[in-house]
Amino acid sequence: MENELIVHEKPKSNVSEAFKTIRTNLQFSSVDEEVKSILVTSSIPGEGKSFVSANLAVAFAQAGSKVLIVDCDLRRGRQHNIFKVNNNLGLSNLLIDNTDKKDEKYFHKTEIKNLFVLPRGIVPPNPSEILASDKNKNLVKILEKTFDMVIYDGPPVNGLADSIIMAGIVKKVIIVSSHKTTKMEQLQNTKRNLEKFENKIAGIIVNKMPVRKDRYYSYYE
Ligand SMILES: Nc1ncnc2c1ncn2[C@@H]1O[C@H](COP(=O)(O)OP(=O)(O)OP(=O)(O)O)[C@@H](O)[C@H]1O
Ligand SMILES: [Mg+2]
Repeated sequence: MENELIVHEKPKSNVSEAFKTIRTNLQFSSVDEEVKSILVTSSIPGEGKSFVSANLAVAFAQAGSKVLIVDCDLRRGRQHNIFKVNNNLGLSNLLIDNTDKKDEKYFHKTEIKNLFVLPRGIVPPNPSEILASDKNKNLVKILEKTFDMVIYDGPPVNGLADSIIMAGIVKKVIIVSSHKTTKMEQLQNTKRNLEKFENKIAGIIVNKMPVRKDRYYSYYE
């Protein structure tokens, strides 16, 4: 897709309306505690995690929240391409940087007001280890204080520890599932893998639902 930021480009479209509904549902999903960090994950590659997390971030920014999207897919993350920002310095670099300074150089402004990106950075040899580090846990806490909403674009669950690790650190988890692509047993396996964090699962987004022959939209259950 040429420009994937549909919520920014076509704010009145069906897709944008669907993302606004998801935003509202998330805002009301926790009564006791304000939800400030959300992981977007899925069972297998290509179900639309990056598309969904980017557009959800835009929807929150449009509502006036100061939003950060963090690309925690340290293996294949492409948020820097979606938002057209530099990926020379990103999450991986920040987490292996031994100076304790939370330098602004890692965080990129986007063309969208209130919306910032922490891109993936260089692909490290040990992504799971980096994400499980105390430094990452502290970073998530610091970012919750700095931003109104932080959205984490994660890798798929099946076969990888990364998103399970992130699920343990963030406040809520969204599972993306692709219409007619994701097999029931794959989704069940994902739910099983995330069982420990069942109370954090905000919902499942069924993505790539055909509306008409030539259009897609997403909805929230
Ligand atoms: N609702 C949608 N309508 C149309 N195209 C979509 C939709 N969701 C995702 N896509 C397209 O499908 C492709 C895969 O989406 P995306 O990269 O978001 O998946 P992903 O789950 O992040 O994949 P990966 O596991 O590789 O990170 C992209 O080209 C994206 O633009
Ligand atoms: Mg992705």
